[in-house]
Amino acid sequence: MSGTRLAATALRADAFRDALARYPAGVVVVTTSCQGRRAAVIIASFTSASLDPPLISYCLKKDSSSGSALIESEWFAVNFLSDSQSDVAAGCSRSDVDRFSVAGVWSTGSHGLPFLEGATVHLMCRRERVIEVGDHFLIVGAVADVRVTENRNPLLCCRRSYAGVEKTMSRNQRTI
Ligand SMILES: Cc1cc2nc3c(=O)[nH]c(=O)nc-3n(C[C@H](O)[C@H](O)[C@H](O)COP(=O)(O)O)c2cc1C
Repeated sequence: MSGTRLAATALRADAFRDALARYPAGVVVVTTSCQGRRAAVIIASFTSASLDPPLISYCLKKDSSSGSALIESEWFAVNFLSDSQSDVAAGCSRSDVDRFSVAGVWSTGSHGLPFLEGATVHLMCRRERVIEVGDHFLIVGAVADVRVTENRNPLLCCRRSYAGVEKTMSRNQRTI
């Protein structure tokens, strides 16, 4: 077998991070508004958790500066980035700026939630559970509302780069 094999007991943090960075994922920006304070954080650990009831989840670093807003707020929004929004991913990864000013067009929805215009999907979620998982919180949200924008392709990340998908993914081309 070629490649680097690591003994589980000797797993190094950088090797673990490097391995995980090779897993392709969609990119979302999770937003909230807590006592008039808006927060936005770029997340690749988003996943669907349950269809009935409709639940989603994501993992948030315990030391995230957006953590208190996202954990205290009853409501949050998940905006799936489109392939033309890598500037939003870059802007919302910065800590020295107002993330809502650097990139993207934002509107305000129910519960004061910031929604990113041009996202492929918006989910409006009520915080259902926060579970401690190592150095992250696993946040589970109950999806109360969904808005889909057709004819937009998703932004993906893999190996610390952003990419789109060449194939146009539409309902008509469903193959799985
Ligand atoms: C592509 C990408 C994916 C990320 N995914 C996550 C994630 O799933 N969970 C997380 O806690 N941080 C993730 N981050 C890091 C957060 O975006 C990071 O915490 C943020 O940029 C720093 O601001 P904060 O202090 O508000 O967390 C990701 C960053 C990038 C660029």
